[in-house]
Amino acid sequence: MMPIGPLMTEHRLIERMAKLLEGAAVNAGSEKRVDAVFIDRAVDFFRTYADRTHHGKEEDILFRELEKKGLSEEHERVMLELVEEHRYARRKVGMLVEAREVYLAGDPGAANEIEAIIMELVGFYAAHITKEDRHFFIPVMEYFNRDEQDAMLEEFREFDRGMIHEKYRKVVESYEDKKRG
Ligand SMILES: [Fe+2]
Ligand SMILES: [Fe+2]
Repeated sequence: MMPIGPLMTEHRLIERMAKLLEGAAVNAGSEKRVDAVFIDRAVDFFRTYADRTHHGKEEDILFRELEKKGLSEEHERVMLELVEEHRYARRKVGMLVEAREVYLAGDPGAANEIEAIIMELVGFYAAHITKEDRHFFIPVMEYFNRDEQDAMLEEFREFDRGMIHEKYRKVVESYEDKKRG
């Protein structure tokens, strides 16, 4: 298997969550009612899975290895765009967290804001994933020989193994911080 295999599989799950989130946005827009618990779960998905786990493997492993390869101008440019796009996604998710808090604080007008942020985030991910799947991942595999690809796949597995521990360590730490006030 090529290392882009697991990344593409992860894209499919991100698309499924994006679709669910889009449904929540439609409700927020039409009924001015926000499922705040679902939004919280979706934010956790986008932060822990889409950003930390998925973008983490892209940036910390795949892109790091590509940097060593003397990329074509075109590939270098697209890679920098992808990193910038990950930053954009992080900012949008942060905005969604804030809008959800405003809504929960009793401002029903925040429902429209939530709808708008979600639609931007969903549209963003569709374009970002298409760019990676169709225009970047497959051509850049050419820079790596079979052994390098196998080593990358193994490093991906190692990276993923650490995630569950990191995730729940953060959960504990966040509650400890709250307790300390
Ligand atoms: Fe990406
Ligand atoms: Fe991706």
